[in-house]
Amino acid sequence: MALVTSKEMFKKAYDGGYAIGAFNVNNMEIVQGITEAAMEENAPLILQVSSGARNYAKHVYLMKLIEAAIEDTGLPICVHLDHGDTFELCKSCIDGGFTSVMIDGSHHSFADNIKLTKQVVEYAHAHGVVVEGELGRLAGIEDAVNVSAENASYTDSAQVIEFVQKTGVDSLAIAIGTSHGAYKFKPGQKPQLRFDILEAVSKELPGFPIVLHGASSVIPEYVQMINANGGKMPDAIGIPEDMLRQAARMSVCKINIDSDLRLAMTGSIRKYFNDHPDHFDPRQYLKVARSNIKTLVKNKLVNVLGCNGKA
Ligand code: G3H
Ligand code: 13P
Ligand code: ZN
Repeated sequence: MALVTSKEMFKKAYDGGYAIGAFNVNNMEIVQGITEAAMEENAPLILQVSSGARNYAKHVYLMKLIEAAIEDTGLPICVHLDHGDTFELCKSCIDGGFTSVMIDGSHHSFADNIKLTKQVVEYAHAHGVVVEGELGRLAGIEDAVNVSAENASYTDSAQVIEFVQKTGVDSLAIAIGTSHGAYKFKPGQKPQLRFDILEAVSKELPGFPIVLHGASSVIPEYVQMINANGGKMPDAIGIPEDMLRQAARMSVCKINIDSDLRLAMTGSIRKYFNDHPDHFDPRQYLKVARSNIKTLVKNKLVNVLGCNGKA
């Protein structure tokens, strides 16, 4: 099995009423935890790399890790640039072997977003690579950019046809109330997603794959594990799993998850050190972190995304 684009995956997911998990990767243990889970569940997979991940681990290391995972698992895997913000960054990832890129022009005006996205689509399609665009602006932190709740904005369903037609994008990320990071809703706040907007968008774009960013559920077990072992994270509420399942049954074909992986990794390592204060072999604590990431991803594939058995 080779690297694949998300085209076929999305078509099957749309028709089958499930979504593909797009998990952020930054190092070997994260890649292994996710791909071992997907192999055991026979699930198609998107591994995504942010520009922060590229700066941390270097493009070539992440690419080789993903190639190794394909060889090891035999799974179809799409490698995707998460939140590309310039044409040059997207071009560099396309030239470096990614099969999918996101150009996130959501911080620009509608006209400039179209112009930038179209430029990326032209280059990507000429190289057999697919493109995700974004309309609407999520709150939260991504790559050191912090969008406050006041500066976030829901997607305007009246704009989506024009955007898709003028840019030629293959999928579209929309803002319906999810947000990046571990602090999505305050304690006591009732999590709400604008399913009416998702429905309106789907009506405008029948059969077209929609993407949800900021979709971690902020699993309480791992927040508690962090705080029970010396951490000081404020209580927070993420996106309820049943809402994500509902979105996956509708037109949402790609669901992005990063923060939950970070919480699982950090909680596992904090607990390990608390339980074994005299240990110093990184393989011991990274093994536990990798194993907990695998458990978490399996749960997402089966109970949230519904893509188990679909590879
Ligand atoms: O949406 C952002 C992702 O969680 C990636 O985060 O830019 O810190 O790698 P990062
Ligand atoms: P979370 O912060 O909710 O995991 O979202 C990740 C994401 O959207 C990556 O693009
Ligand atoms: Zn995102």
